[in-house]
Amino acid sequence: MTEAEERDPRPGEVKLKVERASICGTDLHIFQWDPWAASRIVPPRVIGHEICGRITQIGAGVTGREIGQLVCTESHIVDPEDPDLQQGLGHVARSTRILGVDVDGGFAESLVIPATNARPVPPGVPPEIASMMDALGNAVHTVMAGPVGGLTVLITGLGPIGLFAMKVCEALGASCIIGTEVSPYRRALAERMGASAVIDPSSTDALCAVLKVAPGGVDAVLEMSGHPSALELAISAVNPGGRISLLGVSSQNRVEVETNEIVFKGVTVQGIVGRRLWETWEQMEHLFTHLNLDVSSIVTHSMPFTEFNEAMSVLASGEAGKIVLEF
Ligand SMILES: NC(=O)c1ccc[n+]([C@@H]2O[C@H](COP(=O)([O-])OP(=O)(O)OC[C@H]3O[C@@H](n4cnc5c(N)ncnc54)[C@H](O)[C@@H]3O)[C@@H](O)[C@H]2O)c1
Repeated sequence: MTEAEERDPRPGEVKLKVERASICGTDLHIFQWDPWAASRIVPPRVIGHEICGRITQIGAGVTGREIGQLVCTESHIVDPEDPDLQQGLGHVARSTRILGVDVDGGFAESLVIPATNARPVPPGVPPEIASMMDALGNAVHTVMAGPVGGLTVLITGLGPIGLFAMKVCEALGASCIIGTEVSPYRRALAERMGASAVIDPSSTDALCAVLKVAPGGVDAVLEMSGHPSALELAISAVNPGGRISLLGVSSQNRVEVETNEIVFKGVTVQGIVGRRLWETWEQMEHLFTHLNLDVSSIVTHSMPFTEFNEAMSVLASGEAGKIVLEF
C-alpha cells in the first residue's frame, strides 16, 4: 500500500469516494505478479475494478449523474467514438481499456472514471452487493445469452461467477440447475444455495452423474471454470440443439474437443466476454427490482481494506465466495 496522487475529473468524467470494493481473480493474479500480470501491467498502477462509491465531483459536460449519488463501476472503458460500440458491440470493442489494469482503478479512497462507466445502483441494493455488479454482469451476460426459463442448465465451475449464474438462473425460472466444482468449500456453498445437484468431477464420472439428474442431457451449459475437461463434459452433456456459453478462460490456448459431436448435435457454442454495454446493466436492474435476485449468500467475507494481505490469501486458498473490502 502506498500514497498516490488524486486528480480532478476531466470533461465527461466523475470522481467517486470509494465505499466498497470486491476482489476479482484478476486482482489476485496482479497481487501475485504472475507471468500474465508481469507482461500486461505497466506499474505504477492502482488496481481494483469492482467498485461502489459516491460521486463527489462531476466533470464538465456530464449529464444524468449527481453529487452524492451511489454508483458502481463498469470496468471496460470504451472510446465513445469506437465503431464497435456504435454497432452494439461495446463488450468486444477494440478500444477497450480495463479499470485497474490499463488505467488506475479503485482499491483506493477515490477514483476518477468516465461518467458512463459509473452506473447508478438499483434502489435497495446495498454497497457491498453493488461493488460486485461487474462480476455479476459476467454471469448475467452468460445466462441471458440464451433462454433458461423452464430449462435444465449445467454450470461448470462454481467460483463466484458460477455461483452468481446459479442465482440468476433461479431468478429466471430454470427448472433444474446442476453444478460441477472441484472445491469442497464451493460445492458446499452451492448446495446451501439450493442447486438441484452439485457434482465433483474429480472423484466421479461427471457425465453419468449429470445424466442421472437430467436423463437425455441438459438444455444449456454455462462454462465458468476454464478447465478443458469441463468443455469436454459440456459437449457430451448438452442436448441436441442446445447451447454452450463459454465464459471461463483457459490457461491453455489450444484445447482438443470432439467437434463432430458439436456438428451432429447442432449445438451452438458461443464466447462471452464482459457485459453488453449497456443492456446487461439494464437486465441486472430488472433482476434486482422485479425478480428479487438475491446474491448476498455469495459474499463470504467482508473486511477493512487495510487487511488486503489477509483478503488475498483467503481468496488464494479457494475457501471463499466473494470477498468485499470496506473503505
Ligand atoms: N470472459 C470474461 O469476460 C471473463 C470475465 C471474468 C472472469 N472470466 C473467467 O470466468 C471464470 C470464472 O470466474 P471466477 O471469478 O468465478 O473464477 P474462479 O477461478 O474463482 O472460479 C472457477 C472455478 O472453477 C473450478 N474448477 C476448476 N476446474 C474445474 C473442473 N474441471 N470442473 C468444474 N469446476 C472446476 C475452480 O475450483 C473454481 O472454483 C474464470 O475462468 C475467469 O478467468 C471470464
